[in-house]
Amino acid sequence: MKSTLKILTLVITLFALSCGGGEEKKEEKTKVQLKRQPTTKKVESKSNDTKPSETIDLTNKGVGPITSMDISAPVDEAMVAKGKEVFDKMCTACHRVGKKFIGPAPNGILERRTPEWVMNMILDPEGMTQKDPLAKALLMEFNGSPMANQSLTEDEARGVLEYFRTLK
Ligand code: HEC
Repeated sequence: MKSTLKILTLVITLFALSCGGGEEKKEEKTKVQLKRQPTTKKVESKSNDTKPSETIDLTNKGVGPITSMDISAPVDEAMVAKGKEVFDKMCTACHRVGKKFIGPAPNGILERRTPEWVMNMILDPEGMTQKDPLAKALLMEFNGSPMANQSLTEDEARGVLEYFRTLK
């Protein structure tokens, strides 16, 4: 009789324990789910929030006079010197190396854009902001303040591009 009681108590205890455990697990599951939902939302909104200036697009060549170019040759220091001169004179009113100013910083731009896109932006910013979706979005990011056409020759623009290659 005594041992039957013992067994019965044991069974009841085990039953109670396993039930309690189950509830705990359930609670944990809901907690995990609650935790997970905001994380997914964050990731989604993050990809939507990528600023145009930070968007990497290495296929878009933009719209304008430059349709194809090759910049695989080693950096040409003479061209860089000329390009830096042009940049310091014509572009620093709005662009500063290493920081966002009226326009974006040119550092690492060739890791985000094709050389053709950059050349077209320099040579025909009006056309680009009208016809190229990325340039259009960039203009919005910069509150509609337009990139000025500095009437550079293609050679001068090419020098600036070479200079940009050295700005990491
Ligand atoms: C009057 C101000 C102004 C001047 C001068 C100017 N820019 Fe800009 N630039 C901007 C703004 C603002 C943007 C952002 C796009 C927009 O608003 O259209 C921009 C965008 C650019 C971009 C695209 C940047 C990116 O991260 O995608 C390049 C490249 C560029 N400028 C190069 C130049 C060069 C080279 C010169 C000089 C020859 C120059 N800019 C002169 C204002 C200027």
